[in-house]
Amino acid sequence: MPMTSSLPPETAERFCVPGPGPYALTHSVGCLPKASMDALHAGFLRPWSQLGGDAWQEWLARHDAFRSALADLLGGMPEEYCAQANLSSGLSKLLASLPRNGSSRRVLLAAEDSFPSLGFVLKQAERFGFEARLIPHERSPALLETWSQALTDEVRAVLVTHVHSQTGVVAPVEAIARLCADREILCIVDIAQSAGILPLAVHTLGAHVVLGSCVKWLCGGPGAGFMWIAPGLIEQLEPADVGWLSHADPFRFDIHSFEYAHDARRFWGGTPSVAPFVLAAASLHVLNEIGVQTIFAHNRALMNVFAMEMPRAWRARLPAPEQTGGTLCIRAGSALDAVRARLQEADVRFDCRGEIVRLSFHIVNTPEHALRIARAWPGERP
Ligand SMILES: Cc1ncc(COP(=O)(O)O)c(C=O)c1O
Repeated sequence: MPMTSSLPPETAERFCVPGPGPYALTHSVGCLPKASMDALHAGFLRPWSQLGGDAWQEWLARHDAFRSALADLLGGMPEEYCAQANLSSGLSKLLASLPRNGSSRRVLLAAEDSFPSLGFVLKQAERFGFEARLIPHERSPALLETWSQALTDEVRAVLVTHVHSQTGVVAPVEAIARLCADREILCIVDIAQSAGILPLAVHTLGAHVVLGSCVKWLCGGPGAGFMWIAPGLIEQLEPADVGWLSHADPFRFDIHSFEYAHDARRFWGGTPSVAPFVLAAASLHVLNEIGVQTIFAHNRALMNVFAMEMPRAWRARLPAPEQTGGTLCIRAGSALDAVRARLQEADVRFDCRGEIVRLSFHIVNTPEHALRIARAWPGERP
């Protein structure tokens, strides 16, 4: 693991970074790339101001640019992606689109540590015949054995969170997807906390469907969610939540004839928002230029700087780098108030989930930030 990061300072300068102290909140909202502000004007506001109702052609082209930028960064083909408002909405649409093939499998499985919003969606799917089941928190989602035991022949679909937001734990997605393939279970993967920070390609994960959004490590702001669907599966899915842009020919406008789009766009719906996707396409472009591998290496280098400088007694509480996503999730226990107070004094932007302190190092962070946070930590220095 590299001890320091050799990133040129101009890389961080491509982003607007809220100050005054270290910004370690990318797991919540990633920093705005400066290029996104111009892109918003050029791709959304200017066409609107100059073209009014004739702006749609340009706006729809920006949506295509969003899908292409996703494919460039995360793999797969542009037509295998569909823009969504957020993951929850994408998951709802997906579950309602599953073929009613008389299957006796009714269980929708997920880990209890999944993002709660997605758990709410699984529960609501019970109204159309599914049964939501959560793998209890005590069974680690990092262990393949946990999934192997839970993926029984009652399971129709499983939601696997690649990186868990409250603990930072990484699930062995590829191995879980292989189990699903062997057991004929639909494998849905949530990459909200891994996209843009862990090198990954959607088409090699082995999942059937991948759900994500651009608000965190992709620095694209809220509202630009997406769904990727494995190419062989698209035509078997029939979403109930549709609109003119789910139509094979969106401009046919014949109320008596609906035909699903032949690509993932069938999951789109009615008149979409435009601004979030213009912003996100610009940020995906910036991140692609920097490279996810570079961002990942920088993150690991800063985690290492942090670990070397933090009080010795705390080091044992740090997760092993290969078992964590981009966020350091440190269980502070009874020291929570002291840790919180010291980080606040040092102007660190961080947050907590219960007793867990969450700190994320992105490309906007420097080794000095990691040192400053570690030195603010209460306890004996090494
Ligand atoms: C792992 C994970 N999944 C999903 C989400 C967001 O879901 P949604 O886009 O439906 O709000 C988050 C946001 O914090 C997350 O951390």
